[in-house]
Amino acid sequence: MALSLIIMPAHSIIIGTGSCVPQKVVTNKDLESRVDTTDEWIRTRTGIIQRHISNDRETNSYLATQSARKALDMAGVRPQDLDLIIVGTMTPDMPVPSVACLVQNELGAKRAGAFDLYAACSSFIYALSVADKYIRSDSGMKILVIGSEVLSRVINWEDRNTCVLFGDGAGAVVIAGTGEDRGILSTHLHADGSLGELLIIRGLGTAFPVSHENLEKGWQYIQMQGRDVFKYAVKAMESAAWEALDANGWNGDDVDLFFSHQANIRIIDLLGERLGIPKEKIFINIHKYGNTSAASIPIALDEANRTGMLTPGLRILMVAFGGGFTWGSGAMCW
Ligand code: ACO
Repeated sequence: MALSLIIMPAHSIIIGTGSCVPQKVVTNKDLESRVDTTDEWIRTRTGIIQRHISNDRETNSYLATQSARKALDMAGVRPQDLDLIIVGTMTPDMPVPSVACLVQNELGAKRAGAFDLYAACSSFIYALSVADKYIRSDSGMKILVIGSEVLSRVINWEDRNTCVLFGDGAGAVVIAGTGEDRGILSTHLHADGSLGELLIIRGLGTAFPVSHENLEKGWQYIQMQGRDVFKYAVKAMESAAWEALDANGWNGDDVDLFFSHQANIRIIDLLGERLGIPKEKIFINIHKYGNTSAASIPIALDEANRTGMLTPGLRILMVAFGGGFTWGSGAMCW
């Protein structure tokens, strides 16, 4: 009699989460004395009330390492048992070495490969997707995925169009394999490089090296066509969210908890309406942190986890959008 062996593909599960934000809080009121803005404008147009801003010691790699330590502690995984470290970021300490290598050294994760992944605010979803593919091909791996940003260093603090929006912070997750039918169910990634000019930092790379001329033009700062970005962000995140729902045979009301990139409360509300996800199932923390780019979703996951919101079997939808443009979604069963 022929034996038929069915091998179940491994799923990736998150076995630990952590986050770290700088000590210093800058409120909307504080910004009123810096630029021509009001607490009321920022709250009503963005949902942001305050953000955390790094001091000189709280570098990207410092925040990333602190968040990683918490995630490893929760997971019960030793740094030396990590196989891979991926850091999603657009604000590394320096071009070389990568933040991931700095974190690897700080943790003493001697066995781990380490690299940064550069997809602006979508970097965490991109990094999670890469980690998931590794685990599906080798379920014994332990992977640290971090989203970490120090956006305050690439913001023009005299530009009210951008300086009120962003904050610093890091979030981390430890990913492992499981034979159980849960964990990361799907990820979908997208990009449209033709729209890159709408959200750009021109001057911190090699095309326009640091020079007096380029500094005077302000090319070291984020420049954003906010209204256009808003429109594309809603459209792209809605479409990626439907992709995730369709891939798993879910409707909006099958989602138990929705983690959208925290860029603007009006974007998140619109997404909730269009996807049919009620407000009580939408995780919001933008009022506390502003837009922390790649760190936004992992900080939110860690907050939800540590407050006991992530119960076994919970169906989670994640969606992000950022410069590039890049966007993507992920579906997870906790
Ligand atoms: N305070 C007071 N007034 C302001 C401020 C401010 N901080 N900023 C802009 N304004 C003014 C503008 O100058 C404009 O005035 P005008 O009509 O006299 O010209 C008016 O407010 C309206 O400006 P809009 O840009 O139309 O304002 P909008 O309602 O679109 O809100 C915002 C702007 C918050 C930036 C919004 O467009 C947005 O959130 N965009 C999406 C950002 C995003 O999703 N980014 C994600 C990716 S980020 C990444 O990848 C790093």
